[in-house]
Amino acid sequence: MIVVPGPSSVDLGKRIAKLISARTVDLDYKNFPDGESYLRLSGSVEGEDIVLVQTTYPQQDKRLVELLLIIDALKDLGARRVRAVVPYMAYARQDTRFREGEAVSIRTLFRLIEAAGADEFYTVDVHKEATLQALGIKARNLLGTEVISEHLMALGLKDPYVLSPDKGAIMIAKRVAERLGAECGNFEKTRDRITGAITVKGEAADVRGRDAVLVDDMISTGGTIANAARILKEWGARRVLAACTHPLLVPGAFERMREAGVDEVLGTDTVSSPVSRISVAPLIAKELR
Ligand code: R5P
Repeated sequence: MIVVPGPSSVDLGKRIAKLISARTVDLDYKNFPDGESYLRLSGSVEGEDIVLVQTTYPQQDKRLVELLLIIDALKDLGARRVRAVVPYMAYARQDTRFREGEAVSIRTLFRLIEAAGADEFYTVDVHKEATLQALGIKARNLLGTEVISEHLMALGLKDPYVLSPDKGAIMIAKRVAERLGAECGNFEKTRDRITGAITVKGEAADVRGRDAVLVDDMISTGGTIANAARILKEWGARRVLAACTHPLLVPGAFERMREAGVDEVLGTDTVSSPVSRISVAPLIAKELR
């Protein structure tokens, strides 16, 4: 088995390769002056079983094009099997036509990944697991909660209370709560589909003097977490921690969460960020083995 670390996941790809004792074939890559991507495999892949690791953030569109180019090149160069590992799958939130006329983005991208020649697809905490059914190839959604829970357990939290900031993350929060042996609750979020404005509300939870842990699949603007954190602080939480699988963290997200009372933000290395301290490499390696 050979691991090809894509341009957006060089460190993670190498970590996975080490864990599964596979050699790597690196990619030479650069940007042309007008921004187009140049990619070249630095070694032979003919007849080989390939694990390509390429996340799709930041610069979702560019990373997706790179992913497609590499898959197609691998097949064209004779790879026997290409397993596409996309730790963060972008565009997954647009999984349905919420408003008349919208593109169903994730479905289009899955079609392209399949058409490029991927034989198998692996991702971590995709926004909605059911979207993987749009793929006609073997597809696996790995649960980041496993590594996140382990990290949280080592923090020695005070009487933790785990909450999801919206209904979509309830299962994730439940899994973390179970591992921590903690109580679990959730907020309800509504987002204005035109302005993007977020409203979060929830039934009072007894978080007084306790460590509240908000768990979500991703943090982008930090608006969802900030709204929930403000409420938790009002209810008397001692500390508010925000843990997510994909710390997208657009500019201003940290400040927004900090102002709302979030004490610590944790994330995994499905995307690289200043808080990507939890590695999903063991999770992916276990699945590949
Ligand atoms: C959406 O349903 C996701 O699970 C996240 O809650 C959301 O994407 C977070 O976005 P933001 O940080 O911009 O509020």
